[in-house]
Amino acid sequence: PPPRRPEAALPTIYAITPTYSRPVQKAELTRLANTFRQVARLHWILVEDAAARSELVSRFVAGAGLPCTHLHVPTPRRYKRPGLPRATEQRNAGLAWLRQRHQHLPPPQPGVLFFADDDNTYSLELFQEMRTTRKVSVWPVGLVGGRRYERPVVENGKVVGWYTGWRADRPFAIDMAGFAVSLQVILSHPKAVFKRRGSQPGMQESDFLKQITTVEELEPKANNCTKVLVWHTRTEKVNLANEPKYHLDTVNIEV
Ligand code: UGA
Ligand code: MN
Repeated sequence: PPPRRPEAALPTIYAITPTYSRPVQKAELTRLANTFRQVARLHWILVEDAAARSELVSRFVAGAGLPCTHLHVPTPRRYKRPGLPRATEQRNAGLAWLRQRHQHLPPPQPGVLFFADDDNTYSLELFQEMRTTRKVSVWPVGLVGGRRYERPVVENGKVVGWYTGWRADRPFAIDMAGFAVSLQVILSHPKAVFKRRGSQPGMQESDFLKQITTVEELEPKANNCTKVLVWHTRTEKVNLANEPKYHLDTVNIEV
């Protein structure tokens, strides 16, 4: 009999992470890589919001110690404004890469996609939960929407509504960190993308999800959506008030 490779049966988890240059970028990516490295069969799709791949992220990816695809696409300047959704072009670049790659691979290709912003906090248990996604799975997210958590409300194993304190009128009142999609669904809905036109902050998730699923179809994870396994943490802006205007140190250090 062929040797049993338990890992070979596991669906690959594809994590699409938009990221942009700022003082905390390398620290954020380091935390993320330290988590992702502990997850079996995880493929990291890092998409820089930039006109070219940066040296900092390229070096980081080379030493990250996990399978990585490094992409880049700049956000058009007109969309870099407060009040507009972030990372639309970067998530779409990740989706395009995923679809392109799988066109050339024979089925079945068991896989799960999720959108992993670079500043959130992810428990390892979250990956066990999302790994069994059949179409689209959902779970609670901590520290979001002006509350300790938001969550899908589940009755008899089905999502019937949303516990949220913010824009409860959203068709899918869920943060980007609160769902995963099977690769099959991504491939069978080749036109599903994040849209700039008419998109408002907080509506990107709903605008995307309504292209691929319905509320009735959602698969609740994390014990019927009663456990928080991911937190929408946000990193404080660093104080660089004492940073000299001109280079003063005798060495050049990447931070
Ligand atoms: C919330 C949601 O959690 C995000 O998924 C959503 O994209 C965002 O709102 C939005 O307004 O569009 P928030 O913490 O406010 O998140 O956003 P950030 O964490 O600042 O940005 C989300 C992701 O986009 C991060 O991975 C960040 O690195 C990236 N980003 C942000 C860029 O690639 N370019 C930017 O100019 C800003
Ligand atoms: Mn964030």
